[in-house]
Amino acid sequence: MNQQPHLYQAPDNLLADKIILVTGAGAGIGRTAAISFAAHGATVVLVGKTIEKLEAVYDEIEQAGYPQAAIYPIHLGGAVMKDYQDMHDTLQKEFGRLDGLLHNASMLGDRKPIAQTNSDEWQEVMQVNVNAQFMMTQALLPLLEAAPSASIIFTSSGVGKKGRAYWGPYAVSKFATEGLMQTLADELDNITNIRVNSLNPGATNTAMRRSAYPAEEPTVNPQPEAIMPTYLYLMGKDSEGVTGQAFDAQPKS
Ligand SMILES: NC(=O)c1ccc[n+]([C@@H]2O[C@H](COP(=O)([O-])OP(=O)(O)OC[C@H]3O[C@@H](n4cnc5c(N)ncnc54)[C@H](OP(=O)(O)O)[C@@H]3O)[C@@H](O)[C@H]2O)c1
Repeated sequence: MNQQPHLYQAPDNLLADKIILVTGAGAGIGRTAAISFAAHGATVVLVGKTIEKLEAVYDEIEQAGYPQAAIYPIHLGGAVMKDYQDMHDTLQKEFGRLDGLLHNASMLGDRKPIAQTNSDEWQEVMQVNVNAQFMMTQALLPLLEAAPSASIIFTSSGVGKKGRAYWGPYAVSKFATEGLMQTLADELDNITNIRVNSLNPGATNTAMRRSAYPAEEPTVNPQPEAIMPTYLYLMGKDSEGVTGQAFDAQPKS
């Protein structure tokens, strides 16, 4: 296994002919990951809730001459199992398989004490950050099984490893994400060609980070482009056989 995936140098054709779905592909890390996967040859399915943002990424991929992307708008806060089955059916018809699934979309929610978090807020964050991942993964598993080798990446966070005051349901959702990753990885190990890992991007200059730390100078954190090596490593063939592990996209200082 590559001991330093944050230094991974992806060959240009790493993801040639791969079909990869990215959630939250319209902005931030998901947008950059989608463009980066496309730049390495993948046909990317852009999933997110704001159609205009997805269209802008689609156009960017087209203008760069990368494989034509596909757009699949969905609101993870409101979608139910039937919506994910429809997603499966559409992708089955269009592509017949899925080589990669990057669960990237998340919402931060209001940062406040648990004592002041109402149950609607709690449930919304859990719905978007955990329940949606469960439903989408379950619905799309047959497509991942149909690929010769498939990679599922769940997106974690530092507060999903050690809880921190005022990070409420967001932190708890990231612990749950790690649990979903470990449980699924163990279930699929040795019986499928699907590997399942989690990835903590680390502090990255996106809208979410700027909203969580409004007093911070945004440029102290790397741009999403700088953290792509681990995303590419986990999506490509060099991570085959690696499963059930938690990765950090930025080296711990
Ligand atoms: N940035 C960091 O420092 C950092 C650190 C640790 C972990 N992370 C994790 O990295 C991932 C990406 O974060 P980011 O910083 O790139 O965040 P971001 O800039 O806020 O982007 C989040 C993306 O998720 C989408 N999304 C949010 N709610 C959605 C919903 N209900 N349905 C569908 N799509 C939805 C957004 O779509 P719209 O734009 O259409 O709303 C957007 O494309 C998240 O899982 C986050 O928890 C980030």
